[in-house]
Amino acid sequence: MNLREHIPLAPLTTFRIGGPARYVVSSRNDDEVRECVQFAKTHELPLLVLGEGSNMLIADEGFSGVVLCIENDRVVITQSEGKEIVIADAGLNWDALVAHTTREGLWGLENLSSIPGTVGASVVQNIGAYGVEISSIVTWVDVYDRESDTVRKLSAAECKFGYRDSIFKSREGKQLIVLRVAYALSKEGTPNMNYKDLIAYDGAVKKIVSLADMRTAVMFIREKKFPHLDVIGTAGSYFKNPVVKKEKADEFLLTYPHAPSFPQLDGQVKLSAAWIIDHVLQVKGERVGDVGSWGAQALVLVNYGHATAYDVASYARVIIEKCFTATGIQLEPEVVYVGAVE
Ligand code: EPU
Repeated sequence: MNLREHIPLAPLTTFRIGGPARYVVSSRNDDEVRECVQFAKTHELPLLVLGEGSNMLIADEGFSGVVLCIENDRVVITQSEGKEIVIADAGLNWDALVAHTTREGLWGLENLSSIPGTVGASVVQNIGAYGVEISSIVTWVDVYDRESDTVRKLSAAECKFGYRDSIFKSREGKQLIVLRVAYALSKEGTPNMNYKDLIAYDGAVKKIVSLADMRTAVMFIREKKFPHLDVIGTAGSYFKNPVVKKEKADEFLLTYPHAPSFPQLDGQVKLSAAWIIDHVLQVKGERVGDVGSWGAQALVLVNYGHATAYDVASYARVIIEKCFTATGIQLEPEVVYVGAVE
């Protein structure tokens, strides 16, 4: 296990924000993960597992505990019941996995191309894009349980996936560290065109026929919407799309008949936070100091250079309040706050 002290966290996040960590530990295998957990226990310090820091806003004062960076990154492909089971280590870069499975001719992950982060984060966050959520592809997850000091295998059902949610984000699952994930992919497949941006690309840019076409299409669409991480700091969508009761949605849609809305299986309705920020609050592209809403995607809050966690969280708070005042809808951050950011 590799242990370093007083390490600035900002460069380890895509927002480029966050003070120092007391300790940063890099682990390359399960034993080193366990060793790190024991180290934190012995020193009575809190533990934070960091992937590529692509969905976090870390407090300006930093983290006075142990930050665990999982760096194991193997991929193994096996076959079971006609499916190709891809087993990937938690530390593997997510898009490197998608590139690999696409090259291998395996269908399933292509709509999730170009999402920043790691394999571990894919299940913590239940990543989703362009009509696919990872929960529909996960078979099992190997976890290290900090409380019982054991490695366990969780089925997809045990992961309790929800919209950008899983057991790993709950009180119940906080002690679980993702070690590796198994995804069920397939050699046979057809493009999943269940998203309007893909239909538009198919009509206007190039027909989507193959697996490779889909990966190219998704990369093209994302490239237009999201800032380049090496130039602008961001954690992608800042808020979750609000899921509201049908009556609330009907009331909203009466005032804003052009707003997109997506009925959910449970009868509730998902509305678009990006659309509200853009068309109701009309702050898309706005910049306040070094924080702002991105001009090509209103839901993406960005750091133009020197924004602090406090600046970003305060700006987000203003958006939440404006949204509530204008619509009665409560926005919730999708980005995970670490420490006192406000
Ligand atoms: N829209 C606007 N203004 C904008 C942007 C979008 O009016 O500035 C409208 C669009 O016309 C569209 C709707 O809002 O009707 C939804 O926009 P988009 O398709 O860009 O997706 P989103 O709902 O804003 C979600 C995910 C993204 C994912 C995209 C693509 C969340 C919180 N975000 O965004 O995931 O990439 O769909 O599938 O669910 C993330 O979670 O960090 C993330 C980037």
